[in-house]
Amino acid sequence: MALLTMGCDWRAQPITMAMPFTLPAPQTQRHGHSEEEHMKVWIITSWDMETPSQGGDVVNVQTRPAAAYTAVTTNDTMVSRVEHPAAGYRKIFETCEELAEPIPAQVTGRIPSWLKGSLLRLGPGLFEVGDEPFYHLFDGQALMHKFDFKNGQVTYYRKFVRTDAYVRAMTEKRVVITEFGTFAFPDPCKNIFSRFFSYFKGVEVTDNCLVNVYPVGEDFYACTETNYITKVNPETLETLKKVDLCNYISINGVTAHPHIEADGTVYNIGNCFGKGATLAYNIVSIPPTQKDKSDPIDKSKILVQIPSSERFKPSYVHSFGITPNYFVFVETPVKINLLKFLSAWSIRGSNYMDCFEANESMGTWFHLATRNPHEYVDVKFRATAMNLFHHINAYEDQGFIVVDLCTWKGFEFVYNYLYLANLRENWDEVKKAAMMAPQPEVRRYVIPMDVHREEQGKNLISLPYTTATAVMRSDGSVWLEPEVLFSGPRQAFEFPQINYSRCSGKNYTYAYGLGLNHFIPDRICKLNVRTKETWVWQEPDSYPSEPLFVQTPDGVDEDDGILLTIVVNPGAALRPAYVLILNAKDLSEIARAEVEVIIPVTFHGMYKP
Ligand SMILES: [Fe+2]
Repeated sequence: MALLTMGCDWRAQPITMAMPFTLPAPQTQRHGHSEEEHMKVWIITSWDMETPSQGGDVVNVQTRPAAAYTAVTTNDTMVSRVEHPAAGYRKIFETCEELAEPIPAQVTGRIPSWLKGSLLRLGPGLFEVGDEPFYHLFDGQALMHKFDFKNGQVTYYRKFVRTDAYVRAMTEKRVVITEFGTFAFPDPCKNIFSRFFSYFKGVEVTDNCLVNVYPVGEDFYACTETNYITKVNPETLETLKKVDLCNYISINGVTAHPHIEADGTVYNIGNCFGKGATLAYNIVSIPPTQKDKSDPIDKSKILVQIPSSERFKPSYVHSFGITPNYFVFVETPVKINLLKFLSAWSIRGSNYMDCFEANESMGTWFHLATRNPHEYVDVKFRATAMNLFHHINAYEDQGFIVVDLCTWKGFEFVYNYLYLANLRENWDEVKKAAMMAPQPEVRRYVIPMDVHREEQGKNLISLPYTTATAVMRSDGSVWLEPEVLFSGPRQAFEFPQINYSRCSGKNYTYAYGLGLNHFIPDRICKLNVRTKETWVWQEPDSYPSEPLFVQTPDGVDEDDGILLTIVVNPGAALRPAYVLILNAKDLSEIARAEVEVIIPVTFHGMYKP
């Protein structure tokens, strides 16, 4: 039935654009601190620009290193230092050709000798078909990128994934399958009678897997957020087969952010139809490689079901948290109106974006489920309204669950600001639009595992190192207030990464992220989540992507490793893009490998050793 194949979690990624500076005159208490201490205070206290503190001295930002954008300073802030008047960022939203074969990259610096794998990434590469444009950032057709590292040399290769959406668009020379923000009109060659019926046939769910790639057993799958994932060959980038997850589990779609445990078990979440045809969320698992070499997807299963705050309106879900004993699901007020989805879409020609709406009163609901046994924890954890795309990490400590998130304040959908027409505007217009958008903030929430009714009115959090609180109210719900880890006006720390193999689900220290300046990606950031110290890599007119952490083989410290990011520098006529290798300790440059082609925006990916 059509409902079950709707794939209700769509794709997504906030891509952001940044803004320049004019550093917002930060205010702080200067007296009584040494210069170093002073800087620290500034970092910790001055970022919430919506409510700047009053009465302190203004820090003279000119005294900080200004021009050396590549230099990285501890105790610095993560705000962008550059403007983009030339609007070079437009280049990352332009169609490019795939490559017939891998091309060599010119290396500057020294590629670590132990780096012998592939960086795999996905993003849109075809932004129009003939004269029919795609409208939204998440609509362009999936292009898979690969940088290979071998013996200190680097090559680059890319290929469009042969999804049905892509192949049919190429064949029919028009947009055939409706994308996130682009409606596919019926074939104009059909007569009006058959066109009418094609509206009623319902929705063909897209398989345009432009968001991420991850391993399942010994295979690799490119994905979006619908029920379709696409098996690819990570060596040749060939498309192998399309898999419909609805054939294995009761799910409308799953996120592009599964958690993958050391043994290879894959966990994911998606909305589904629960009891009485009401909406719910299923946490699902796919086991590791099977001894008999059978496809692990055959053994996919549902572990636990989490109820929805609204019967017929699931929330948009982009990622979730996992600890050794819990699943953490944050249900935001960005809702998918299923009735609108069913009627508006097939009859009036709407797209996925038209089916989102905000629930202005629910705030945000935090849900927990235990992992052994798999059971829903029936406690009402509540917080203010937010958009949430990316969990950074979650862990258990002394009876509490710490949940670190890249949030956006309020219930208005951030994706409303990610239409390509907006992102391709001149810099002043980009900034103006972002001023209207929800504001980003990195937050730490802490959830008490053990809640007792008699503790009403008290702060239940006794972790010594956080200011996050949880207070039980008279109705039995527990109100969560976060500790802010970073907040800069229109300056997002997004696309977060950690030393995943070592720290996922565990107490940790470092998060890495892509800095969005008014939604434009223009820097790489590192955040010490314990001390709030920060580091930044940035160069003028340069547009990086999500930084992936790769641990040094003999690494001891959590941040013994490198970051891999693809950077586009449109002004460099000869070699306008490169893969950048940064030392994860201090974000200093280790090497870059430049190619003679532009590389369009990429969202997520992985390092395959
Ligand atoms: Fe994402």
